[in-house]
Amino acid sequence: MDFPERFSDLPEYAFPRLRALLDSHAPGGAPLAMTIGEPQHRYPDWVAPTIAEAAAGFGKYPVNEGSEMLLGAISGWIGRRYGVAAAPERLLALNGTREGLYNAAMALCPETKAGARPLVLMPNPFYQVYAVAALSVGAEPVYLPATRETGFLPDLDAIPAKTLDRTAIFYLCSPSNPQGAVASEAYLKRLMDLAERHDFRVFADECYSEIWRTAPPPGALAVAEAMGADPERLVVFNSLSKRSNLPGLRAGFAASGPESTRRMRQLRNYAGAPLPLPLQAVAAKAWSDEAHVDENRALYAAKYDIADRVLGGVPGYAAPEAGFFLWLPVDDGEAAALKLWRETGVRVLPGAYLGRDVGGENPGNGYVRVAMVAPADDMQRGLETLRGCLYD
Ligand SMILES: Cc1ncc(COP(=O)(O)O)c(C=O)c1O
Repeated sequence: MDFPERFSDLPEYAFPRLRALLDSHAPGGAPLAMTIGEPQHRYPDWVAPTIAEAAAGFGKYPVNEGSEMLLGAISGWIGRRYGVAAAPERLLALNGTREGLYNAAMALCPETKAGARPLVLMPNPFYQVYAVAALSVGAEPVYLPATRETGFLPDLDAIPAKTLDRTAIFYLCSPSNPQGAVASEAYLKRLMDLAERHDFRVFADECYSEIWRTAPPPGALAVAEAMGADPERLVVFNSLSKRSNLPGLRAGFAASGPESTRRMRQLRNYAGAPLPLPLQAVAAKAWSDEAHVDENRALYAAKYDIADRVLGGVPGYAAPEAGFFLWLPVDDGEAAALKLWRETGVRVLPGAYLGRDVGGENPGNGYVRVAMVAPADDMQRGLETLRGCLYD
C-alpha cells in the first residue's frame, strides 16, 4: 500500500515523542506532569445544568455554522472585547480552534500563488497543526524563527519579498504558544500591511487572548478594522478551551470577511463536524459571561507570581506576557527533560518537539516548555524541584 508522500517527513506528535523519551525510565519522585496545556481550573457551575436543559438538542442534527444564539453571543463578545461589530455572517462556530485552523486552510488556500506552489508561513516553534494544514493543501510550510533575538515572534522585516509574494497564508499565534509573547498593535498592523501589499491572508490564532498578565493583548480584528484592511484578508480564531477552562467542550470560532466565511461554511457543510446543539447552548453562555474569566485570570496571576519568585534569578528566565506556559532556557531540552524526570519525577516538554530544524537549527532545542496548569501548590513544588535539578 502506498501512503501520501506529503506527510512522510512529519515527525511523531510531541506527546508520543515525550513518552518514548521518558517512559522506559523510572521517575525519580512522585510524577508531576507539567507538559500538556490542558487547563485544570474549574469550569463554571452552570455548564452541566445548561447541557441538561438543552439535552433535547442531542436528538437533532446541529446547525452547521452555529446557532443564531451562539453566533449572537460570539458577536457580542467580539464587540465588547475589541469594539468591532462582527455580524453573524462573518462568524463560524468550530469544534475548538484546532480543527478550524486546519480546515480554514482547506477552504481558503489557493492551488498556486504568484505562479508557483504557495507558501504557508508560521512561527518556529509553533502549534503543530499549522504545518499539517500547509502540507495537506499541497503548500510549502516556511518556518520563521521566533527566538529571544526576534522578541519570540517572527521578524517581519527579515522575510524576503519574493517569499512574501508566494505566501498564501501567514499563521500568527499571539499570545504565542510556547513563549507567551504578545504581538503589539504596531506588529499586527505591519503584518496586515504586508498581507495587503503581497496579497496573502493572515490566520491569527488568539486562543490565549484572555490569559494575560498586565493588559489585554490587542486583537487582529480591531487592528485590521482600524486600518481599513480588507476583512477577507484576516481570519481570527478563538476558543473557550483556555478562557473558560473547557478544553473538552470543543467550542471555538473563526471570524473573517463574509466571503471567506461563506467559503469556510460551504466546505464545512460537506465535510465538517458541527458542534452538538446542547454544547452550542453552553458555548453561547460562556461567551456571554466574563465573571468566570476574571476569576480564572486571577488564578493565573498567582501562578505568574509563583514562577517569578521561584525562577526570577535563573539566567535567561523571561516571564511570559500572556498564556500559561513557561519557556525555560536550558542547554539541551531533551537532556534536561530526561534528567528532570529521572531525578525528580517532574515531566516537562523538550522545546524541540514544538519546532522544526531549519538549516540544522531548531530554535526549540535550548528550551523546555512548562505548563502552569496544575494547582498552585503542586506548581510551586514542581518549579522548585525543577530549579533545584536544572539550575542550582
Ligand atoms: C496555540 C494554540 N492554538 C490552538 C489550540 C487549540 O485549542 P482548541 O482546539 O482547544 O481550541 C491550542 C491548544 O493547546 C494552542 O495552544
